Amino acid sequence: MTDSDSSFYVTTPIYYVNDKPHIGHAYTTILADVMSRFHRLSGSRTFFLTGTDEHGQKVEQAANKKKISPIEQCDATVIRFQNLWKKLNITHDDFIRTTEERHRKIVSKILQTLYDRGEIYKADYEGTYCVPCERFFTEKDLVGGNCPDCKRPVGQIVESNYFFKMSEHQEWLIGYINDNPDFIQPAHRRNETLGFLRQPLDDLCISRPKSRLSWGIELPFDREYVCYVWFDALINYISAPGFMADDPEFQKWWPATCHLIGKDILTTHTVYWPIMLKAIGISLPKSIFAHGWWLVGKDKMGKSLGNVVDPMNMCDRYGTDAFRYFLLAEMTPGNDASFTEKAFINRYNTDLADGLGNMLNRVIQLICRHFDGKIPSPKSQEADDIELQDETLAAVKTMEISFIEMKLDRGLEGVMKAVRACNRYFEKTAPWHLAKQDNKDRLSTVLYTAAESLRIVSVLLYPVIPGKMNIMRTVLGVDADHLEPELADSGKWGLLKPNTKTGDLPSLFPRIIVEKSVGNKQAPEKITTDTDGQNLIGIDDFSKIKLITARIITAERVENTKKLLKLVVDTGKGRRQIIAGIAESCSPDILVDKTIIIVSNLKPATICGNKSEGMLLAAQSGKKSVLLTVDGECSPGVRVG
Ligand code: ME8
Ligand code: MG
Repeated sequence: MTDSDSSFYVTTPIYYVNDKPHIGHAYTTILADVMSRFHRLSGSRTFFLTGTDEHGQKVEQAANKKKISPIEQCDATVIRFQNLWKKLNITHDDFIRTTEERHRKIVSKILQTLYDRGEIYKADYEGTYCVPCERFFTEKDLVGGNCPDCKRPVGQIVESNYFFKMSEHQEWLIGYINDNPDFIQPAHRRNETLGFLRQPLDDLCISRPKSRLSWGIELPFDREYVCYVWFDALINYISAPGFMADDPEFQKWWPATCHLIGKDILTTHTVYWPIMLKAIGISLPKSIFAHGWWLVGKDKMGKSLGNVVDPMNMCDRYGTDAFRYFLLAEMTPGNDASFTEKAFINRYNTDLADGLGNMLNRVIQLICRHFDGKIPSPKSQEADDIELQDETLAAVKTMEISFIEMKLDRGLEGVMKAVRACNRYFEKTAPWHLAKQDNKDRLSTVLYTAAESLRIVSVLLYPVIPGKMNIMRTVLGVDADHLEPELADSGKWGLLKPNTKTGDLPSLFPRIIVEKSVGNKQAPEKITTDTDGQNLIGIDDFSKIKLITARIITAERVENTKKLLKLVVDTGKGRRQIIAGIAESCSPDILVDKTIIIVSNLKPATICGNKSEGMLLAAQSGKKSVLLTVDGECSPGVRVG
């Protein structure tokens, strides 16, 4: 996985500072961060740029609303983005603000050059304009008479303005896109742009009279106007690396490897920007990748809907790495994805808590118990060991391909598959039995194999969850600064050195417990949203649930409740109390002496002030519950499965 002589330059959109960041902004930036970390580790010279789009009507309007100046609005909001990037562990190399002098100077220079070359001209314009989007649209662009982007009503305006000659370059652009199939990704977005280019392209109005908007970069050839915010904003991608046409310093980075964007800003990036660059006379970025949209449940996220997900809050509650992991694992970058807290908790518990965290615990605990906390030396490999080795190395390949194909969710799924294989391997080889039998040789091999598999996993997951993987690597006793060579050698098995001391074992990903409301089936769980698909579980998930038979000894109603019964049951090993929401369907006196099935390894809970240790199984049909009982003779405490 090395490409040491190449350079990698990735950008995110520069975000508007009219409002605080949400998970959409977080997603693009995390994705860029993961790609940067991966390429940095692979030995590429890497430049990761993000920043803020600070001019234009949106920002001016936000400032007016708060009765502050536009720059005060920018200064206050930019901090929120910068703080979020700190919180999310984002490793950008530069952060550009379009109000900075270094940017304004270059925009001004480019405007003058294009004007001098006749690429910009003045004309009267009457057009249909969308105020929130700050864009003119032609009649054919409109959707049901409304703005095609934000779907809000548009208005007619007439004014004298400056125009950038885009139409002349239409045929060239179509040819370029067809000749360079990787330029716009994924493919369905390329088709979208080509579809857009089937209609004649209008020249682009790149000025705003100061009478209408003053918050922008002044046109160097006419002080009555400021530059249209998009024309200014796109230039950030070359102003940050210090645009100067023939400067070797600039050419170190340009052309950019990838502009990461959301699908909302496809046209500006795949039509305006390439034509601007052609007119300026420099080469085009190698690729523009437009990812899909984060929805909240099935809805669009928006202030008016009151469903905006705050990334800062998610990190505070569940940790930065868990949040990064979820966003990357849940979205196939070309498609839309749905965010719900329920899906988040599900994935966290399955992949991180029960999968990865649990596996690390199991391995390290046994190494501590039987090898004094030192990585044991592997002896001869058996079929099971080779199988795990193969599954782990397959994950390396999958991850590598997923970076090339921009399908990181698949890469992560591949790694999780290896983690599950690791847990299965433990079940199969049962190292605790090997320890009992004093089979030290085999025990050494099994523990080494599992630990080595986890070491490789730590390298693969590092770009996504760097904080936790640093901890995991410390626990495994590998050096923090070994990541680079290990990534280069990630197809190699056996780099973990026997006899190294493992570190203290923290709880890497403590399980998130969801409190369900009991006794009232109508009341929502604490989590109110739902995903549309059902989660499939593996046999190993199912085997975690311990079902046993139990005999009911006493049953009575819980005072002041309609639905709850208090049962005392015999579990074969003793008695315990279970609170069950079945009072509306079963009368207490017919329950005594029945043999039922209970979940015996459920964490105890307190329900309406009563301790409940376990849960009984009942079939739910409408409001009625039918208790599952045992057909035939069966003593209490027998495992069901
Ligand atoms: O458009 N799902 O800035 P912006 C996924 N300043 N990604 C989302 C998202 C969602 N629901 N919402 C936002 C601008 N994004 C211009 C860009 S670039 C020269 C100028 C992400 O603050 C996604 O990357 O509206 C989208 O393209 C970007 O935020 C838009 O951010
Ligand atoms: Mg936007």
